[in-house]
Amino acid sequence: MSLREQIEREIRQRGPIPFSRYMQICLYDPSHGYYSANAEQFGKAGDFYTSSDVHAVFGRLLARQFDEIWQALDRPAKIEILELGPGRGLFARDVLDWSNKKFHDFFAALTYTLQETSPALRAKLQETLREHLDAGRAHVGAGALTCPAGRSPAAADIHRSLPPDAPLIVFANEFFDALPVEILSTNGKLHIAFENNSLRETWLPPLAEELEFLDRYGVHPEPRERIDVDDDDRIEVPILAQDWIRQIARSIERGLLVIVDYGYTRHQQLAGRYRGTLMAYRRHYASPDPYQAPGEQDLTAHVNFTALAAVCEQAGMQCEKLLTQSQFLMGIGETNQFADAFEDCRIPQERAKVALQLKHLVTPIGMGETFQVLTASRGIDPARIAALSGLRFGSSSQFSASDAKTPATHN
Ligand SMILES: C[S@@+](CC[C@H](N)C(=O)[O-])C[C@H]1O[C@@H](n2cnc3c(N)ncnc32)[C@H](O)[C@@H]1O
Repeated sequence: MSLREQIEREIRQRGPIPFSRYMQICLYDPSHGYYSANAEQFGKAGDFYTSSDVHAVFGRLLARQFDEIWQALDRPAKIEILELGPGRGLFARDVLDWSNKKFHDFFAALTYTLQETSPALRAKLQETLREHLDAGRAHVGAGALTCPAGRSPAAADIHRSLPPDAPLIVFANEFFDALPVEILSTNGKLHIAFENNSLRETWLPPLAEELEFLDRYGVHPEPRERIDVDDDDRIEVPILAQDWIRQIARSIERGLLVIVDYGYTRHQQLAGRYRGTLMAYRRHYASPDPYQAPGEQDLTAHVNFTALAAVCEQAGMQCEKLLTQSQFLMGIGETNQFADAFEDCRIPQERAKVALQLKHLVTPIGMGETFQVLTASRGIDPARIAALSGLRFGSSSQFSASDAKTPATHN
């Protein structure tokens, strides 16, 4: 049975399904979901590329930063990095290889855990990381998989390899943008129905929790006359991402969370930007239509950083300023003139090529300002966190979890 037939059957049995359920099936159905079924989404030949596809320097700079964090924790005998949604594992490979080469003491203390839901990508991880897996340095786990019909999308669930008291760094690059979201408009909450032999959008009343989310961390959809657009104003409600942050915060007794993703703040939404960011990607073409070829295209929504930071703080973690990827990587790489990028180059042509790749990761017209970095810590001296090289640039006034507003009550 194709994924479309499966979706149609579920709607016939249950009635209209929330958009998050549709997105969950399209991306993560265990047999035919976009991520579950194949491991060829990434890179030039796939549908999109991420920072680790550009050059190993992304992982190398982060290895440098992780070594500094380990030192800020007073060089514990054991430390764990837990990477959420590692895809095919290029980042983990680059961090492990570079740490092994440059940061021996940190590497000796390191256990690297990869939590990947896709069976096809987990198989790929076995290839990419064979040497580190065989050495017991890396571990691959599945994380939350199940999402039975009628239930909310796959629950957040953290699986560590070391005991809870070992310091932990949780790292997530483009993980949160791949989590299912709800969508609200002035008509209600988006559901998918099946009528006249095709999938159709229909709107049902939202939950109080979803309205409260928009009160606190976002904006409410407005009638199209008021915002002067032709289409409905659609606002995403990433409830599942909040659950992930709660779980992550619970697992970090001492350590740091580093999120790299494209996203927005409440402040930017209030200024009229990022109202409806859901996109589909196929062969490097973006489309706003999520209903074409279910299971064959990536679906993604920008991340609400105000909401993520607020949940971190509610859970007792300390959030740092929100930085652009450019500021973060410049802070780490500037000290040694990005030597991590150029070390393997033997001839000037190779240097020139790597310089272009580095430029793509760092400059505003590349990935430097599209991507942002949110860090939150617990149990580390705030002065030592503030002294991390990656946090050197950027102004603390540009972002605050206290952007979030006290909500009205919705019954
Ligand atoms: C956009 S890809 C990013 C991959 C990788 N981090 C990179 O930067 O190349 C999102 C990844 O998150 C994984 N993922 C989504 N939900 C997950 C979950 N609940 N548990 C573990 N991995 C998940 C997907 O299978 C996919 O590999």
